[in-house]
Amino acid sequence: MARILVTSALPYINGIKHLGNLVGSMLPADVYARFSRACGNEVLFLCATDEHGTPAELAARAANQSVEDYCAEQHEIQKRACFDFGLSFDHFGRSSNAPNKRLTQHFAKVLEDNGLIEERTDRQIYSIDDARFLPDRYVEGTCPNCAYEKARGDQCDNCGTLLDPIELKDPYSSISGSRNLEVRETKHLYLRQSKMQDAIADWIATKDAWPHLTKSIAGKWIKEGLQDRSITRDLYWGVPVAYEGKPRPGFDKKVFYVWFDAPIEYIGCTEEWASAAPGRNWRSWWRLDEGAADVRYVQFMGKDNVAFHTVSFPVTILGSKEPWKLVDTLKSLNWLTWYGGKFSTSQNRGIFMDQALELLPADYWRWHLMANAPESDDASFTLEHFASVVNKDLADVLGNFVNRITRFCASKFGENVPAEGAYGEVEAKLIADLDVKIAAYTAALEAMEFRKACAELRGIWVAGNEYLQIAAPWTAFKTDPARAAAVVRAGLNLIALFAALSAPFIPHTAAKMAAVFGIDLAREPWPLSAKAALERLPPGAAFALPEVLFKKIEDEQVAAWREKFGAE
Ligand code: MF3
Ligand code: ZN
Repeated sequence: MARILVTSALPYINGIKHLGNLVGSMLPADVYARFSRACGNEVLFLCATDEHGTPAELAARAANQSVEDYCAEQHEIQKRACFDFGLSFDHFGRSSNAPNKRLTQHFAKVLEDNGLIEERTDRQIYSIDDARFLPDRYVEGTCPNCAYEKARGDQCDNCGTLLDPIELKDPYSSISGSRNLEVRETKHLYLRQSKMQDAIADWIATKDAWPHLTKSIAGKWIKEGLQDRSITRDLYWGVPVAYEGKPRPGFDKKVFYVWFDAPIEYIGCTEEWASAAPGRNWRSWWRLDEGAADVRYVQFMGKDNVAFHTVSFPVTILGSKEPWKLVDTLKSLNWLTWYGGKFSTSQNRGIFMDQALELLPADYWRWHLMANAPESDDASFTLEHFASVVNKDLADVLGNFVNRITRFCASKFGENVPAEGAYGEVEAKLIADLDVKIAAYTAALEAMEFRKACAELRGIWVAGNEYLQIAAPWTAFKTDPARAAAVVRAGLNLIALFAALSAPFIPHTAAKMAAVFGIDLAREPWPLSAKAALERLPPGAAFALPEVLFKKIEDEQVAAWREKFGAE
């Protein structure tokens, strides 16, 4: 069995994430981690809050809190929401914790020793009234590309162009609104990515098996040629630019750029995980010379993150010339939109993770989001579509199956798995059909093709319903009760099979289905053989009638939610 390291892109600390963020990285990563564990692998699944940079400082300021307090509070809020959504992180860390600070300074030091960092003089916007430089989002103004008037210094939210703050027209301070700004010279550290062009291109060239979206984005960046990039900022909140405890001369008021330290937190977070309990070794996951050579490392992220994970972070790793583990495969996703537009907190458009769980349990969202994940293209979330998918797939197909067979059994045979009767031709056909379907489902999960996997899983549930339709135990019971018993036994075994197969997507419901038979899914092997699965339950074993698994969503609920969450 393999050792698999799974990470999700680290959510920014500034506010709870919406459904689009969730399906963009954390949720698919969880499905994959759960599937990999179920297959018997040793899985380490990590995530953390990405806490540094201007967004955190600005959000703290808006909330009237110190940035330290703000981050500590928001971290707990996000951690809670992730847990409630069933995200099975082995650890949920913080990029502002000590391990990341030490590692970030370590990487900067070795990169500098290797001639990959140099000091350059930059022209930056300085606010006279605020008495400080205004990096990134601290300055706003008119986009030079599309004339949008509220473009941020680092990026225009309207047209997506990445910007240098000094390119903005009519700039103003986002702290004070002051337009009393000037351009001043200041020193920054540059990571000389251009020197790593060949090394990165060669490494990417070995990654034929990467998913299509990842490969195409990475290829584009390689083709354009790697640019040197500034990795320091004039900010208070971040990893200080210091080596071995001493500030780098001239840099005592500067910190590393958030995108330099954030991916290093994947390693930092592993150290946090290791420190939380005895007997854990973080280096065996990251150091090729200490056991990480046999680790398979899989990253999940939205498409805007691909360049940072295929180019920037690998420059840090490879440029260090130390034996650190590199990513093996990266699954990237497109955007989920809210009725074709942007999710937005400020404009009250869309549903955020905590709000979603006030409406319905996590599995309803998890299923719909993954079954319609923005894999090949952007996808639009609508409440109407959500309701119809939940009602059809979960309530009518899966929920109804479980309900029907358990209740029929209870009324005719009692709450035990019937022992009489033998499987016949219909079951042989069912088994052959399921073997093919399970293999296709498993292959889709291995390939991280989640929409396809969901379609296959739905097909498996449907096959169960069709089997009941054809085998019709309610009719058989009148003439041949032993035959009806065999069909019911098959049906009950299908519930246990569906539980195991469905657990990566709908873990809470799967656990309830397994609990009907006292099964602990953590101990079940991934069911590859339908024949074995149909003989999983000991004949005669008691079971407990489950509650109704899924409630249908009514039109009135959809109408009320539309109103509340700004659907158009
Ligand atoms: N916070 C970033 C985002 O939400 C992702 C950071 S992933 C990292 O886009 F690990 F590389 F930091
Ligand atoms: Zn623009």
